[in-house]
Amino acid sequence: MIPEQPSEKMTVSKLRQMKKEKKPAAWVTAYTLSSAEPAQSTHVDMILVGDSGGMVELGYETTNPVTMDEMLMFAKAIRRAAPHTFVIGDMPQGSYETSPRDAVRNALRFIKEAGCDAVKCEGGRRMTKPIRAIVDAGVLVIGHLGLTPQSTASFGGYRVQGKTKKSFEAIIEDAWALEEVGVFAILLEAMPSMPAEQIAFQLDIPVYGIGAGGRVDGQLIIMHDLLGDYQAFRPWFAKCFIPDVEGAFHQYLSQIGDPRKVGRETREDGIRVLRRIAVQRYIEDVRTGKYPGEEYSYPLKAEDLEELKSSRYWKDIPKEPSMITNVPTQVDSGIIVGSSAQGNGSGQEFNRSDVEPPAHLLV
Ligand code: KIV
Repeated sequence: MIPEQPSEKMTVSKLRQMKKEKKPAAWVTAYTLSSAEPAQSTHVDMILVGDSGGMVELGYETTNPVTMDEMLMFAKAIRRAAPHTFVIGDMPQGSYETSPRDAVRNALRFIKEAGCDAVKCEGGRRMTKPIRAIVDAGVLVIGHLGLTPQSTASFGGYRVQGKTKKSFEAIIEDAWALEEVGVFAILLEAMPSMPAEQIAFQLDIPVYGIGAGGRVDGQLIIMHDLLGDYQAFRPWFAKCFIPDVEGAFHQYLSQIGDPRKVGRETREDGIRVLRRIAVQRYIEDVRTGKYPGEEYSYPLKAEDLEELKSSRYWKDIPKEPSMITNVPTQVDSGIIVGSSAQGNGSGQEFNRSDVEPPAHLLV
């Protein structure tokens, strides 16, 4: 079920080609050997060494305390464990906003000391100076817009972005500014699928999503959410794939032979295999458009969509047959895509209390 040979390493031109061909990219975060192994062995398109590692591996409450040295430790571990995968180092808070000089120095540490292929920076127009400096130094950069966890304080918490005309216009202007300074791709976090689709459609570079619905050029998920390995906070859009692969894991176990006959020391019969099967399922579901689908996308009310459509930046998108088949669809009930926030009544915010499933997911 899981291909054995490492595939060729991803390149920027392949990512662009995938966008053209409407083949969604599937990537994950990883921080240490245990998360790198399933990513590398299942041939994810890219690994993000996210500063989320500070929360899921080091126990910080937010990503803000994470340091460059901690990020480099994660990134080096990932490079050792996944030598064939395109690895992106996430610039932690304070490592690039301070000055273009700091930004270049720290980006180059990811490349030279940890062997990363690219770096990620949060922020749009207000960050173009440091980001341009990194690009000019010859380092590949992916931008991160929408909900940007390093500046949650300025958003008033973890709030879904891009739902209002003002918010959508700010994000697309940020995206154009980043494209102009030369980022190779953009990641959108926590926004409904239709405004995210507009941004993916209007940019030449690939636009990926984490909680941005199924109409973008690919998906990122935090490994610990995919595996259900971090319970303190899991946003609605993040699916735990373990329940889906329970049967496949049992079937695998039933086929690997009697431990009295197969060497107990070499028998692969544990969590390592389960992780791989789960990551493999995530990749398949992204490629076929099954994930995120409606269930793991943020909803948009009909009146909010109408307001968005009145934006000077909103474009008609010709509907053509797409590789991404199972994307969220408009329904008549006033909600455009169904999911979590619909159930908690606010439709705006996800936080720890959103860990309770909405009623429609309980049936
Ligand atoms: O640190 C991280 O994993 C991230 C994702 C939330 C996009 O930045």
